[in-house]
Amino acid sequence: MDSKQLTIKKYNIAIVGATGVVGETMLSILEERKFPVNDLILLASERSSGKEYLFNGQTIKVQALNESSFQNIDIALFSAGSSISKTYADIAVRSGCIIIDNSSAFRMKEDVPLVIPEINPQALSNHKGIIANPNCTTIVTLMALDPINKFSKIKRIIASSYQAVSGAGREGINELKYQSKDITNGREPTIKYFAHQIANNLIPKIDIMNDNGYSAEEMKMANETRKIFDDNEIKVSATCVRVPVLTAHSVAVTIETENKIPINNVRELIKNSEGIELIDDPEKEIYPMPIFAQGRDNCLVGRIREDLVFENGISLWVSGDQIRKGAALNAVQIAEKLI
Ligand SMILES: NC(=O)c1ccc[n+]([C@@H]2O[C@H](COP(=O)([O-])OP(=O)(O)OC[C@H]3O[C@@H](n4cnc5c(N)ncnc54)[C@H](OP(=O)(O)O)[C@@H]3O)[C@@H](O)[C@H]2O)c1
Repeated sequence: MDSKQLTIKKYNIAIVGATGVVGETMLSILEERKFPVNDLILLASERSSGKEYLFNGQTIKVQALNESSFQNIDIALFSAGSSISKTYADIAVRSGCIIIDNSSAFRMKEDVPLVIPEINPQALSNHKGIIANPNCTTIVTLMALDPINKFSKIKRIIASSYQAVSGAGREGINELKYQSKDITNGREPTIKYFAHQIANNLIPKIDIMNDNGYSAEEMKMANETRKIFDDNEIKVSATCVRVPVLTAHSVAVTIETENKIPINNVRELIKNSEGIELIDDPEKEIYPMPIFAQGRDNCLVGRIREDLVFENGISLWVSGDQIRKGAALNAVQIAEKLI
């Protein structure tokens, strides 16, 4: 083998929203997974300009995002919210780079692939410069359901989510931390970010409400599931709840499949699939929990049982780190598939 064959192409990467909880995790995942980075540009608002991060032993200063930020960039990982994505995506694409967008701005656009690499990598081949990362709760849920759906089509899904505060970014984390401190110190907790106190509480509404009585977060689960599974018939009813957990979303899911699948087969399907782990021995107190899922790449699946309501029904529980697999890791995996 000559030396030319050993040369790996390296890419110029930008992270938009590099100082956020997802952006910082993208940075560490690019390093962990030894992504072939040539130049790395960290972008955020003017507020964070000059903030320093270490990447592969090198100090990189955060720059304020502007219209010329994308010159010479091959892949831009966007993670600064929908309005920034809507403003800068076209500019970035015109500069010749491919965008992997974490916001909900483009997910349901027909010409934008919505991709979970373990599930529908084939969708990537149709991209026109923008690829969308699905909603974090949808990713965690579908990671558990995809092997079952590939075995026997899922007809209906009923899901209740238990979503960590870090799903709402840095402000969500701070809100829970400060409120917990206030309560411990006998003070009235200050409510700044969520609509209600989140410490010692649950909030059964995430994002704005739709006319049909479902929240936008719940409709993301329904619509994005149809797009990722490429199945307009599948019916999804979700209830999304914010819980006082720092990291990792959990979802209680009940499904009905076309054909009956014995529970042992479901366990085998989960055991043999990429990106998920079977953690299921409830008699020994072994089941997925956010404290186990936090910091892990795999989503954890357990409490698998035959459902008592649906014919051909299965109920299960899944916990997954929504900052990693629900956002940063999924985006980096998409970038890996692209190169
Ligand atoms: N957190 C999750 O679990 C999760 C999961 C899936 C998807 N997402 C999506 O990922 C995106 C980021 O979420 P996050 O949780 O990381 O939020 P976050 O912690 O609040 O971080 C937001 C990031 O956006 C940057 N930003 C805000 N306004 C900006 C502006 N005008 N110009 C340039 N940069 C700006 C912030 O920079 P400054 O530091 O300068 O303010 C920061 O880097 C959102 O679209 C969110 O919906 C999040």
